[in-house]
Amino acid sequence: MKVMKKVLTGTMVLAMAALFTSCNQGDGKEIIRISHNQAADYPTNTGLLAFEKYIEEHLGDKYDVQIFPNELLGSQVNTVELTQTGAINFTVASNAILESFDDIYQIFNLPYLFSSTEHYHAVMDNKDIIEPIFKSTKKSGFEAVAWLDAGTRNFYTVKKPILTPDDLKGMKIRVQQSASNIRMMQLFGGSATPMGFGEVYTALQQSVIDGAENNEPALTSNKHGEVAKYYSYNMHQMVPDIVIGNEKFLSSLSKEEREIFDKGFQIISQVQREAWGAYVEKSIEGAKEMNVQFFHPDVLAFQERVLPLHQEVLKSSPKLEPIYNQIQEIGKSMIGGKENE
Ligand code: GCU
Repeated sequence: MKVMKKVLTGTMVLAMAALFTSCNQGDGKEIIRISHNQAADYPTNTGLLAFEKYIEEHLGDKYDVQIFPNELLGSQVNTVELTQTGAINFTVASNAILESFDDIYQIFNLPYLFSSTEHYHAVMDNKDIIEPIFKSTKKSGFEAVAWLDAGTRNFYTVKKPILTPDDLKGMKIRVQQSASNIRMMQLFGGSATPMGFGEVYTALQQSVIDGAENNEPALTSNKHGEVAKYYSYNMHQMVPDIVIGNEKFLSSLSKEEREIFDKGFQIISQVQREAWGAYVEKSIEGAKEMNVQFFHPDVLAFQERVLPLHQEVLKSSPKLEPIYNQIQEIGKSMIGGKENE
């Protein structure tokens, strides 16, 4: 079964590459294809539409930007591959799955890495930390160009709420396809079931899994709240989404074009972030209407279980240590700042 899936994925990638490289438009414009796995009303799509508008306003005689939402071009793992090969130009991928393409991304998958949303944003907006990471994947065929807030990940389950880590015992919980997340779930005491985002709803419905973990919009936008009625704020991760672009395409741009694209990438982040908070609020309201109940368990009990993962990951990838230390310093200075207020 696994082999079959691999063969199919490989074939699909090749077929799509052949299709896409040969189909630029009759009007001579180059099509820029961008894939993501969220719905058309999701902040990710809103940000990308603003990008499309900006690029076409400034370079519209040369480029036609086309956005493919809802996993239309495949799951994130597939579309990262399509971006690497150049079959498409950009995709939005969760940082979680990027670690299997380049281990530097393990850093933002660490549970309880950030102490607050402010800490998370301050780190992700810090150019000294982010730029070297974003550029470091050129050898893997892609460059990261923007990050998007994907909120806080929490457990949600079908049969009973998760109030302590012990409640996870024996439960099959969907995780993203990432070695760190599988390990995290082991440390929590649950049984990790990795799968693509688009498969989660059916897996919940058919009891292939007992629960999953994600931000609140997964309950409404992806309808997981129709099946899973218990959402527990154990706050284990703030995993950003990352917009990545094909390296060859980006390096083919002239200096002037690249400046316009860079401004466009900033616009994606800005517009997405402006829309995010209200979207989460709306999702919470929508989930309550679906009879989802929200719980606030003792976060420290969860934290204790998984903190050993920090040292495990740093030991296996020593290059992450300076970045990790910088992140800790920023966190401390923010707490210090608050105390001094
Ligand atoms: C969030 C995130 C997506 C990711 C999804 C998942 O929705 O924004 O990028 O694919 O979680 O759990 O797979």
